[in-house]
Amino acid sequence: MSRREIDLEGLSATVVTPTANESERRAEVSLRPNSLQEFVGQRELVQHLEIVLGSARARGQVSDHLLFAGPPGLGKTSLASIVASEMGSGLRITSGPVLARPGDIAALLTDLQDGDVLFIDEIHRLSRAVEEVLYPAMEDHRLDVMIGRGPSARSIRLELPNFTLVGATTRTGLVAAPLRDRFGFIGQLDLYDSGELEIIVARSAVLLEVSLGTGAAGVIARRSRGTPRIANRLLRRVRDYAAVEGIAMVTSDIAETALTLFGVDHFGLDKIDRRILGLLCDQFSSQPVGLTTLAHACGEEPSTIEDAYEPFLLRAGLLARTPRGRVATEKAFHHLGLQPRGGGLV
Ligand SMILES: Nc1ncnc2c1ncn2[C@@H]1O[C@H](COP(=O)(O)OP(=O)(O)OP(=O)(O)O)[C@@H](O)[C@H]1O
Ligand SMILES: [Mg+2]
Repeated sequence: MSRREIDLEGLSATVVTPTANESERRAEVSLRPNSLQEFVGQRELVQHLEIVLGSARARGQVSDHLLFAGPPGLGKTSLASIVASEMGSGLRITSGPVLARPGDIAALLTDLQDGDVLFIDEIHRLSRAVEEVLYPAMEDHRLDVMIGRGPSARSIRLELPNFTLVGATTRTGLVAAPLRDRFGFIGQLDLYDSGELEIIVARSAVLLEVSLGTGAAGVIARRSRGTPRIANRLLRRVRDYAAVEGIAMVTSDIAETALTLFGVDHFGLDKIDRRILGLLCDQFSSQPVGLTTLAHACGEEPSTIEDAYEPFLLRAGLLARTPRGRVATEKAFHHLGLQPRGGGLV
């Protein structure tokens, strides 16, 4: 395969997107940490989780229900499977959008084995009717089922096995308050620092059998927008580049060349980030811009901008949220090589 045969346009378009498609999720399984010890970073959260799980194990009971919240690609699904393996229990996986009717969740709950972990991804997308079934199941391990219709309808109560519900959400604010209140522990995941990402890249390189020279893991880590999923993806792209160029050892220069080729700059920004910042700096003349207007101007969904792009731009100090809308910061102007100008600039 020559360099020209790599679909650069296709690969570059998604190289720093925090979300993953189905085939990427499958590829990720092999790089997933399997225990709390292998889970890098999120020190406080991991410490709390060790206490919660350790105490449940000592009592010989299932753990409290757990909710993991945070931007995509930070390790929520990884933590759910770690909880199951740390507790030595079975793991059942589903997601909010899949559970359309109350019968769907009832079927899952009645099929659980004692001690199982039930993982519901995107839990903020559950329908109200499905949530209503979950409440008594989470509180008292019971399921109230309506049989028949009209005047002859009656409700029967089923006892459920002990289980731990683990929920994941990218939007804590959208999880209904009564549901949120039924979790005994809520863990908020934050973006990782470059040191932590460097450890993740080095570990993944061993698993993928890529040999990295001094500094190469750091180059990849610093461009990964604080997100392990992106760090692993950039590593795979660097590996591809090295493979087609016939390079056995990836030095930091090779890593930089490869990432620049894929359109990732030294901040880890891609085309869409630069478009967002460019619009804010230039087209909107640094006036505050509403999320929907900004999203339309970029040709993206507002939720994509809010979930996938904004957290990093905010943290990098390139974008700010004001009561009147989003503005580019002075740092953003400098990064794009533009002259800062007044308006909503911060
Ligand atoms: N703390 C970590 N240590 C090592 N690797 C990690 C860590 N967190 C995440 N990863 C890696 O990043 C990949 C993505 O993580 P995961 O699927 O758990 O994220 P997520 O928060 O569930 O994302 P989404 O919101 O899109 O479902 C995993 O395959 C794993 O390899
Ligand atoms: Mg996930």
